[in-house]
This record gives sequence, structure tokens and C-alpha cells, in this order.
Amino acid sequence: MATAMTGTYGPWGIVAGGSDGVGVAFAHGMASRGINVVLVARRVPVLEASADDIRARHGVEVRTVALDLSTQGAEAELAHATRDLEVGLFVYNAGGDDRGAAFLDKDLDAHLELVQRNCGSVLEAAYRFGAPMVARGRGALVLVTSGAAWAGGATHAAYGATKAFDLILAESLWAEWRTSGVDVLGLVLGRTDTPSFRRVFDAEGTVYGELADPGDVAEEALDHLADGPTWIHGSTTPTGPSPLGALSRRDAVLAMSRGASASRQESTT
Ligand SMILES: NC(=O)c1ccc[n+]([C@@H]2O[C@H](COP(=O)([O-])OP(=O)(O)OC[C@H]3O[C@@H](n4cnc5c(N)ncnc54)[C@H](OP(=O)(O)O)[C@@H]3O)[C@@H](O)[C@H]2O)c1
Repeated sequence: MATAMTGTYGPWGIVAGGSDGVGVAFAHGMASRGINVVLVARRVPVLEASADDIRARHGVEVRTVALDLSTQGAEAELAHATRDLEVGLFVYNAGGDDRGAAFLDKDLDAHLELVQRNCGSVLEAAYRFGAPMVARGRGALVLVTSGAAWAGGATHAAYGATKAFDLILAESLWAEWRTSGVDVLGLVLGRTDTPSFRRVFDAEGTVYGELADPGDVAEEALDHLADGPTWIHGSTTPTGPSPLGALSRRDAVLAMSRGASASRQESTT
């Protein structure tokens, strides 16, 4: 099906972390614009159920690739599994933290897996799938990041550091590829109502407050793929500066740390 989006970017898209939450919302949004989608995630039943739903609702082709993105070699496997497709849109969504905790209260292996999924694998996806886009002169790459990227803070040391990596990677690739026909967007999210978010916050007993809707997040991002380098969902100035930009680095870090601590205290009072 030829649509404005397939004409601009190409016939296929990949969502890494595409079986639930923001990822599956991206997949529905892409499919509704005529893009065939490849969904990547670990839990096969969830992956297949989402794929069936997208096929039924949008009539596009859907391929599933069951992979753990925190393992070395995952992106090579994904490239091999999609070698027959022209992939014009890649959304790297998987990246949530499964537990907010002090740095030394988490296993070293958990930190290293997070870094591989959120940094090594993201960089490799950008390299492997971005190169053919640049060569073709069309494509789009979305790296989903977080407000945790704005500054360091207690209980998000590794997570925030990986999200800052994703933000800088997206902004840098935008600068390099902007004249090549490839759009790059670093998508900064605040609290969003996803199954992963609820698993983490329910386990901690944290009060949610207002949450963004994953469908709104994906639709807005898909409508602004060409408005990079950075899009801050939920901001009154989505292409504007960091909301902490006016603070000294020290005050920003202390503000971030107070935010984490306030969430935990609310949940215990
Ligand atoms: N939700 C929020 O409040 C929030 C706030 C700020 C930023 N963000 C960002 O938004 C993105 C999406 O967050 P989310 O809340 O939807 O949770 P998420 O856990 O990052 O994403 C869920 C999706 O990713 C897949 N996934 C997770 N780990 C994977 C792995 N190792 N290998 C392959 N697939 C994996 C999940 O399927 P499987 O579990 O079956 O693998 C599912 O399809 C993340 O980058 C996160 O940093 C979210």
C-alpha cells in the first residue's frame, strides 16, 4: 500500500521493543500509515498476540523476531532476520528500568545488561540500519529516551546515563544525516502508562500521578519525525531546552534526586 509515509521512508519499519506499551503503539501508528512492521521483543506470546492484532486492524504485513536486545549479537541477528526487507523506519523503544534502586543495591550484571540493551544495541542498530537508509537517501530513526537523561540523580545512575547516551547519539546522528534525507528524532518521554511502568511502580507501591498515553506519544512522534533532533513529549515547548537548563548542574542533580526520593516517600505515607 503506497502512502505518504511509505513514499517518504520506505515500505518496512522495525520497532525494537514493539510488543507492548509505547512500542506497540508505534507499530499501530506505523501500520495505520501503510508501513509493514517488524516487531522485536522477548516474550513470544505477547509478541505474536500484538502481531495478530496489527495484521487484523491494519492489513499490513507483520514479522516477529524474538530476541533479547541486552545480549551481544542481537542486532546482527535482527539484521539477518530482515535482510530481505527495505527498512526505512527504525524505532528503538526498549529501554525501561525494571527497578529504581541505589547503584550498589543492584547486581553488576543487571547494570551491564541495561547498558548493552540501551547503549551498545542502540548504537549497533543505528549503524546497521542507518547505513542503508543514508545510502538510499531516505529513512527515519527514532531513539526513545527519557527525562532521566537531563541530569544525574540518586537511584537512576545507570538508567539515566544510558538515556543520556541515547539522547546525544540521536542528536549527533541528526546533525550528521540531516542533509542525507534521513530523519533522526530523540524522543524524550516523561511518565507514560505502559505495562512496564506499572510493573515497576506497582512493585514499589509508588503513587503514579498523571501519566501520558502511549498512543498519544506514538502519534505525536510519527507526526514530527522531521522535527528533530529532539522532541519532548508533554512539553509546551517540545523542541525547546531541557527543563532543568536554567539550574546549575549541582542543583539539577539535587532536584532529580529529590524527585526520586519524594516518589518513594509518597508511597510509604
Ligand atoms: N513508561 C514510562 O513512564 C517511561 C518514561 C520515560 C521514558 N520511557 C522510555 O520509553 C521506552 C519504553 O518504555 P516502556 O515503559 O514501554 O518499557 P520497556 O520495558 O522499555 O518497553 C517494553 C517493550 O520492550 C520489550 N523489551 C524490553 N526489554 C527487552 C529486551 N531486553 N529485549 C527485547 N525486547 C525488550 C518488551 O517486550 P518483552 O518484555 O517481551 O521483551 C516490550 O515490547 C523506554 O526506552 C523507556 O526508557 C518510558
